Amino acid sequence: MLTAAIAGRGQKLKNGIVRKPQGDPCVFVIFGGTGDLMQKKLLPSLFRMAQHGLLPRNSQVLGVARDRSLDDHKFRAWAAKALTELGLTPHDPVWCDTCLHYQAADPARPEDFDALAKRIAALEGKRAGKGNRVLYLALPPLAFEPVIQNLGKAGLNKSGGWTRLVVEKPFGHDLESAQRLNAIVHTHFDESQVYRIDHYLGKETVQNLLAFRFGNALFESAWNRDHIKSVQISVAEQTSIGTRAGYYENTGALRDMVQNHLTQLLTLTAMEVPAAFAADSIRFEKVKVLRSVAPIKREAIVFGQYSPGRVERKKLPGYLQEPGVVPRSRTETFVAMRLEIQNWRWQGVPFYLRTGKSMPRRSTRIVIDFRKPPVALFRTVGRRPHRNILAINLQPDQGFDLTFEVKSPGDRFTLQTERMQFRYPAITDSLWDGYETLLMEIVRGDQTLFVHADETEASWRLYAPLLRRRSMPYPYAAGSWGPEAANKLMEATGGEWTT
Ligand code: BG6
Repeated sequence: MLTAAIAGRGQKLKNGIVRKPQGDPCVFVIFGGTGDLMQKKLLPSLFRMAQHGLLPRNSQVLGVARDRSLDDHKFRAWAAKALTELGLTPHDPVWCDTCLHYQAADPARPEDFDALAKRIAALEGKRAGKGNRVLYLALPPLAFEPVIQNLGKAGLNKSGGWTRLVVEKPFGHDLESAQRLNAIVHTHFDESQVYRIDHYLGKETVQNLLAFRFGNALFESAWNRDHIKSVQISVAEQTSIGTRAGYYENTGALRDMVQNHLTQLLTLTAMEVPAAFAADSIRFEKVKVLRSVAPIKREAIVFGQYSPGRVERKKLPGYLQEPGVVPRSRTETFVAMRLEIQNWRWQGVPFYLRTGKSMPRRSTRIVIDFRKPPVALFRTVGRRPHRNILAINLQPDQGFDLTFEVKSPGDRFTLQTERMQFRYPAITDSLWDGYETLLMEIVRGDQTLFVHADETEASWRLYAPLLRRRSMPYPYAAGSWGPEAANKLMEATGGEWTT
């Protein structure tokens, strides 16, 4: 049993709330069972859930991969090593590693999936109850289709309990491939069984965005074109492409970050109040936002690619110098764009999206720039007169900052800008990794934090035309905030990027 010792006890938070395991015992069938995602995210998340007593009692994990030389015993040794490398303690009594199992299966051999079906049934018969299954595709995208087809043919799309299919990103690489993948998924699974992952939706601050907007009448009443001048959504990464050229050369920043992560932040920021706090209502409102975005004009988008640079005397390579990148590659590592949402709430409010690799530091934030008061009654200290700015920080420093104007002491009615701040350590000792949250939601059967088929297609419909029109990216020095053209994009409407 994964949670032998403390299953069911739950986790007590700093604010006194006790989190209890929810959902039924199940078998986590993880395709890509010895891959990177399993090693770095899924396995440690399952471990931490077990540690906090948040996994349903008797749950089992079945790693599936092509390697036929592995068995349960070797898989357990592999898992113990992976956990130890992450500083976790696989010999902790809460972690019973006899609940880890391994089965070899090759997508090119449908008969392997019949054997897999038998193996899952045997595990359920012995320990994990009446047939609740999480089928998690932690696989490279090319493997999605054959594995889903094989699951369907082997009858693994249904069981005596519930069966949930989890599909990792990227979901398609353009509109046609996303539509084809959705069609294959829907041949074998009902949409209510499908959990498309975008790990940004597992981040606490992203979820808090909904609570913040719809739990505070003060902000929601000002969340519109009458009060907001512009919105920026920026995901700056300090890391470069490193050794990921094999993946990144065929992807680029638009596919890797904008089509999914930034778009999730966009829709949650811009959506209307849902009819209920339920998956269907929320996902419906998100799709409506995407359908209201005007086609993106050529002059409203800037592509960039990092060139050699420096941060604090340290030399950084350019993208073209990274191992595996083809000479003269045009793959973009930076995108900035301006979007117009043509609906009643947002008409005339520019939404700026920006993401890049090899930037000066990691900073993911949504910045809501409120309008100035219509009449300037006061003098100001500092550069920007009379603006309230709400910054929602996703990482590294999760929380919210609101700037507002106060009277400068001593001076006769001169204003200066001050800040109200919320940071998570004030209410919790530890924040969950997104994957723990998402795994818990899958077991609970709540699709709110997962991407609907319509959403994937609406998003590709918006960005796919840009893929075809990608121009030569502007160079920007590694360790800088991107090409100058991205600043010009902002200046055109009188703003600037805040970092
Ligand atoms: C992944 C992208 O989906 O998200 C990576 O493939 C990117 O290129 C990563 O670095 C960013 O995630 P996070 O949670 O570190 O912001």
